[in-house]
Amino acid sequence: MAKKRIQRIGVLTGGGDCPGLNAVIRAVAKTLMHDEEAEIVGFLDGYEGLVLDRTMTIDWRAVSNILTQGGTILGTSNTANPFGWAEKKAGKTVTTDRHKDALRVFKKHRLDGLVVIGGDGSMAIAGKLLECGMPVAGVPKTIDNDVPGTEMTFGFMTAVGVATDALDRLHTTASAHHRVMVAEVMGRYAGWLALHSGIAGGADVILIPEIPFRWDAVVRACTERARKGKRFSIVCVAEGAKPFGGEMVIERHVEGSPDPVRLGGIGRLVAGSIEQETGIEARATTLGYVQRGGTPCPFDRVFATSLGHRAACLAAEGRWGRMASWQQGRVTDVAIESVAGGCRKIELDDPLLAVARSVGTSFGD
Ligand code: F6P
Repeated sequence: MAKKRIQRIGVLTGGGDCPGLNAVIRAVAKTLMHDEEAEIVGFLDGYEGLVLDRTMTIDWRAVSNILTQGGTILGTSNTANPFGWAEKKAGKTVTTDRHKDALRVFKKHRLDGLVVIGGDGSMAIAGKLLECGMPVAGVPKTIDNDVPGTEMTFGFMTAVGVATDALDRLHTTASAHHRVMVAEVMGRYAGWLALHSGIAGGADVILIPEIPFRWDAVVRACTERARKGKRFSIVCVAEGAKPFGGEMVIERHVEGSPDPVRLGGIGRLVAGSIEQETGIEARATTLGYVQRGGTPCPFDRVFATSLGHRAACLAAEGRWGRMASWQQGRVTDVAIESVAGGCRKIELDDPLLAVARSVGTSFGD
């Protein structure tokens, strides 16, 4: 019997944005419109649009000229969750389950399936919708590179480029003023961004959540360099880095978010401690949201397009419940359930850690 052709597919972008979201939307839509003559419905602001029925039509015109654009034409939300819908009522946050609204809206638009472009939180929600009978396919995004089931997420390489450029710039000013420059990069509970940009930017010290650091080892790395006549040092700190026996530094809590913790502030503490213990002037720079903004690098344009194409193929073949993934240099796919809600961290035997150590980088351990 001939396979039923898909007719209508929904698409949404959830969680924090990253470069390449529009490239994925474009690839999903163009592939399905071209190969399947499918109609595409975009849900606005992540799962919020799916619950509140806020949509936009994704046609050829909508996806024209967006390949290189940062952000997402659909908007996104890192708090909207159909299974834990948070609303402020009389000054209090009240959480309700609105997943039935999501199912109703999906049905109302006569959709054959939904492509969710998001990180671990969005995939966890996609997994639950799947259990409720909604056909879902996923595409892994985030500058943090921490989604399980894929060796890389799109957006990561662009963020590595931004952070590396910042480290290069900090190098010249550090060298001119004979200072220690500390750059705090994002990454949540994983150190991928700090490790890759730290190596690319020639950081002398890289601090990551996976390797708790010792204050005296960080200080020693800087004084050792000074003793050898190097009059400046560069320290690249992941926002989730923490001292041995200590805790991560929390900047704020975002009510209603699947993970309300927002990290930030460790860079300042590290700079303060170095200055106090060594007498060398130290400054901290937090790179923040510039790492998430702007145009995707060429690699991410190709990668995001390939992942989007894969998600479109999964939809066209009716292979729901899968997430496009990158394994051993190729695009493939994995079960969404195996991904949902996890966090992929750097293994302590990752060869890149040994590479960094071999060129003299300290991890403060
Ligand atoms: O997950 C991407 C990310 O940028 C993390 O690196 C960072 O910890 C977090 O999002 C910040 O989230 P928000 O946009 O809610 O401040």
